[in-house]
Amino acid sequence: MLLTTPPMGWNSWNTFGPHISDPLIREMAVTMKDRGYLAAGYNYIVIDDCWSLRERGRDGRLVPDPEKFPDGMKAVADFVHSLGFQFGMYSCAGVQTCAGYPASYDHEFLDAQTFAEWGVDYLKYDFCNFPANADGQNRYATMSMALKSTGRDILFAACNWGTDKPWKWMKSLGVHMYRSTGDIQDNFRSFSEIARSQLDNFCMSGPNCFNDIDMLTVGMYGKGNVALGDTCGDTEYQTQFALWCMLGAPLMLGADLRSMSEASEQLVLSPGLLRINQDPEGRVPQVVYRGRMIYNGPDAPGGWEEFPDTGLTLFKHMSDHEFAVGLFNFAPKPGQVPFIFADAGLPATSGYALHFSDAITVEDLGIRRDYLNLMVPSHGSRVLRCRIEKA
Ligand code: GLA
Repeated sequence: MLLTTPPMGWNSWNTFGPHISDPLIREMAVTMKDRGYLAAGYNYIVIDDCWSLRERGRDGRLVPDPEKFPDGMKAVADFVHSLGFQFGMYSCAGVQTCAGYPASYDHEFLDAQTFAEWGVDYLKYDFCNFPANADGQNRYATMSMALKSTGRDILFAACNWGTDKPWKWMKSLGVHMYRSTGDIQDNFRSFSEIARSQLDNFCMSGPNCFNDIDMLTVGMYGKGNVALGDTCGDTEYQTQFALWCMLGAPLMLGADLRSMSEASEQLVLSPGLLRINQDPEGRVPQVVYRGRMIYNGPDAPGGWEEFPDTGLTLFKHMSDHEFAVGLFNFAPKPGQVPFIFADAGLPATSGYALHFSDAITVEDLGIRRDYLNLMVPSHGSRVLRCRIEKA
């Protein structure tokens, strides 16, 4: 199965945890169609953990909880498909899922068959309760073979949270995306640490096998299942979405899209940011600056204050002779995030300059030579697109 760009969609876990049901999934699908999410590319609707009964059926098969899904899973899949979406479900490589429901260890082929019969197009495959003496890599390979044995195209989304450096081996097992980090929480510290922990590994991410830094929390504003720590505001959410887009990570939304704020909806539907995430060349960015931020505002002690390792500049080659630039400020104060063009391979002596526009507002920011030093708010970001022109 070819997968040229990072998968996009919605997953039930971040907001709803165990509180999932047939009507909820149907309502989310209708909302995603009506509000333009499907048209923007968010085409996977994924049910996470807690969908089944606590025991397998007599035939050994997983059984959907009849209180949550009274018509079974095929009915949900058929509805989701009828609106034009792909349907995703969840299991786990261990003996039980993370929430304690039956999982697929030693049942891989039967479970894959069941999922295929229900019309599943995407399987998130977790790593809890994995037997201590078993081989994790081999069991991801087993589920990959089991999915292939069904003859159905099923996107395999492995989720072992970075155990055994998955960026080195998941691609060779036929996996389409692999979670490289622990669970995201809906706060700035959690998502910024998750994204920055993978900066050195994204070189191994790309078409057919993407590094997955977890479902987004954009738009949750402290409500839901992973709402821990300080609530994010729109500045933080823009930074989260900009990081995921610049890094080419899968974009699985986690908020309740039925009550999404206008700002969050505009953000995740931003054509300029999605263009960067979904660029058909599928390149990952260069890290052109990773270092300190200097704040020299009025309340700085002695006129200035330094915050180590809080500035980040990413530079991404795109199709159509275009580039994207992401400037990030992780410091608790505003500051200038530097972009020296020579660091991206454009020396001052080249005779060429860069012509910038804002990726979100499309405002023309003019032609710059040698460098760009933009003010970025605390916890904030700027995302630009640029072209190379004669100076
Ligand atoms: C793990 C995963 C999460 C989620 C839960 C469900 O923690 O990393 O993304 O799927 O399990 O229990």
